[in-house]
Amino acid sequence: IDPTLDLFEEINKLKKEKNAVILAHYYQESDIQDIADYIGDSLGLSQEAAKTDAEVIVFAGVHFMAETAKILSPNKKVLLPDAKAGCSLSDSCPPHLFKKFKEKYPDHLVITYVNCTAELKALSDIVCTSSNAVQIVNSLPKDQKIIFGPDKNLGAYVIKKTGRDMVLWNGACMVHEIFAREKITKLKERHPDAKFIAHPECEELVLEMADYVGSTTGLLNYTVNNPATQFIVATESGIIHQMEKSSPDKSFIPAPPNNACACNDCPHMKRNTLEKLYLCLKNELPEIDVPREIIERARKPIERMLQISA
Ligand code: 13P
Ligand code: SF4
Repeated sequence: IDPTLDLFEEINKLKKEKNAVILAHYYQESDIQDIADYIGDSLGLSQEAAKTDAEVIVFAGVHFMAETAKILSPNKKVLLPDAKAGCSLSDSCPPHLFKKFKEKYPDHLVITYVNCTAELKALSDIVCTSSNAVQIVNSLPKDQKIIFGPDKNLGAYVIKKTGRDMVLWNGACMVHEIFAREKITKLKERHPDAKFIAHPECEELVLEMADYVGSTTGLLNYTVNNPATQFIVATESGIIHQMEKSSPDKSFIPAPPNNACACNDCPHMKRNTLEKLYLCLKNELPEIDVPREIIERARKPIERMLQISA
């Protein structure tokens, strides 16, 4: 790439030329968030992907998110700046193993967290995200037997909130599992007025300490609406960019991980860069494709989720 190029200008030009829309998750680097047409959590992004009339969707997020956009808008071109932007949580649930697991519980309904492959969604009855998981489980009859996967931490949180007894798949997110309870306790002692907020992919022992638990959009809204001026944030660090933009007078401290070498960045989300976003829009590559047969089967459980959360 010519280093003198103004990437913001070039991306905006290409976007108009190609009738493209840029959807970005809150975990993307700040420049990508700043150039996006829409920034959101997984639910907001899938709602946006379902209703856009752009011809090209550039999905600045990870593979399963771009796949979901393709399933919802199969006739559009869906691009992902880095085709290797995957997800440890999605990887923790290979569809062929999940199929066998599901066969053990033939009278159970299958709810899958959106952080999974299209193939896994095709094996599900309803999809959910972190912002509507509790609502979706509550919408089902009380005696409905449920399998929930792949995130065991979100699953345990939903069980606690709904009182339902669900069978959980043993998967987890590598970013949300690293928060250290003892270090958070010390940090809270040093900042007694700070609110501690956490994403439900965190472990139960961390969630127990939280003043508020919610999806990335939920966490952002909480920091805007709560009168506190300091927040300790247990989720991926990309969200702090929006928190600082929305509340410039408040301060945000990333929750400490248990290993001094670790950080709260998702290595998959952060594979996307502004340069890759520019190249992907220019070359219309890498493009995300999902087999027709999987699109047809995976679409129903996603649409069921969108209907319940409308
Ligand atoms: P939400 O977008 O639902 O907050 O989930 C966060 C996440 O881990 C996305 O990969
Ligand atoms: Fe997957 Fe976790 Fe990264 Fe989200 S933050 S994309 S769940 S690895």
